[in-house]
Amino acid sequence: MFGLKGTKCTPVIRVLILWVVMTNIMLMLYCLTNQANVKIRGSQEDTCPIKMAESLRKNMTSPSQSTKSQAEECSPALNIMFMKTHKTASSTILNILFRFGEKHKLKFAFPDGRNDFHYPSPFLCSQVKDYRPGECFNIVCNHMRFNHQEVVKLLPPDAVYVTILRDPVDLFESSFHYYHRAVPLTWRLNSNKLEEFLNNPQTFYSPEAYNSFYLKNLLFFDFGFDNNVEDDDPRIVRDIHDLSKKFDLVLIAEYFEESLILLKDTLCWTMEDIIYFKLNARKSSSVSKLTPDLRTKALEWNKADWRLYQHFNATFWARVEAFGRERMKREVNELKRRNAEMKAICIEGGNAVEAQQIWNRHFLPWQPVGESSILGYNMKKDIHPKYRTTCEKMLTPEIQYLSDLGVSLWLTRLWGWIKDTVFTA
Ligand SMILES: *[C@@H]1O[C@H](CO)[C@@H](O)[C@H](O)[C@H]1NC(C)=O
Ligand SMILES: *[C@@H]1O[C@H](CO)[C@@H](O)[C@H](O)[C@H]1NC(C)=O
Repeated sequence: MFGLKGTKCTPVIRVLILWVVMTNIMLMLYCLTNQANVKIRGSQEDTCPIKMAESLRKNMTSPSQSTKSQAEECSPALNIMFMKTHKTASSTILNILFRFGEKHKLKFAFPDGRNDFHYPSPFLCSQVKDYRPGECFNIVCNHMRFNHQEVVKLLPPDAVYVTILRDPVDLFESSFHYYHRAVPLTWRLNSNKLEEFLNNPQTFYSPEAYNSFYLKNLLFFDFGFDNNVEDDDPRIVRDIHDLSKKFDLVLIAEYFEESLILLKDTLCWTMEDIIYFKLNARKSSSVSKLTPDLRTKALEWNKADWRLYQHFNATFWARVEAFGRERMKREVNELKRRNAEMKAICIEGGNAVEAQQIWNRHFLPWQPVGESSILGYNMKKDIHPKYRTTCEKMLTPEIQYLSDLGVSLWLTRLWGWIKDTVFTA
């Protein structure tokens, strides 16, 4: 089991050496960036004061949705915490938030030098670009390990907390595909890696191992809980209850359109605000088909996430029920129609294509280490000027969009360069 085949040695050793070198460089950079931030940490009064929040609201461009019937009863939410979970279609939501924020000139709390808030370290306000205690923001949406105490300091008290979950079995499959190369213990796996892992997880997993959280209860981990919690630990129920109090809306990736309609309803937004193209999808040939037996194993292995998912799947459908099933159907159809319309306007060939076929690097999505399995789009060349900007923004992947919004991404880019030149060589 442990014997490496001769032919595999060279790449494995190469990856090993690189990994050691990279870890050291990253650690050094991490310490450097962290040092500068530690001093800012302060006390209770760091919280975004209500007065500031109000002046922030007044500064907004006045919402133009006044013609919509909705707007008579509510005004669009501008203060939003979106807890971006991994491998849950959250990049598509991010694109929606970026566009909305840009349109209304909202203030994002962005990370500095990278696209996440020092993940997997727990979130701290000091990780926010240009943060000063007492500063207010409208939108927080980049990857983080959730830490409510800190997030709450950045946003006005009326901020709406939203997140998204996905079936933990599919999430696990996706996370395994995307990250297993970053978890050194899995380098011993041979041909059918996912199956081998699930048949014997304890052999390839250790809670202490580097990056191991990607391979067990990743949702629990993202929300700041213990992902190695025992299946019968009462903390699971407590943690789920805790989340249900903190989040106003929990979306479910399997019901993506319904989720967006509930989001629109909760935030008092318009249909226009939630039209989208599915971003960061994986080519289907790279998705492992799990047998029912393996699905059960994956579910057992991610039991805490499974319970989390079931809880919020139930609350989700209760929300749909309250919203009205018929009304939901109508609105979902309308959203699909609008999406298809935009697709026809913006996308060359009408569909996502593989990375090698994307002409313009601006639309090339970030790829996992040693793979190019993430699909992207080509934008049509002869788009009517009226739609050009919208198309461009809808098609821009996360990293490029962050860069367009003025976020420096030197650390992310350095890692990307190393990933592409060395690991794909
Ligand atoms: C609102 O706008 C005024 C004037 O343009 C500016 O002085 C103030 O700092 C802004 N407030 C916030 C919270 O951005
Ligand atoms: C989620 O809820 C829906 C509606 O009740 C149900 O049909 C579906 O099976 C649930 N999914 C899971 C994984 O429990």
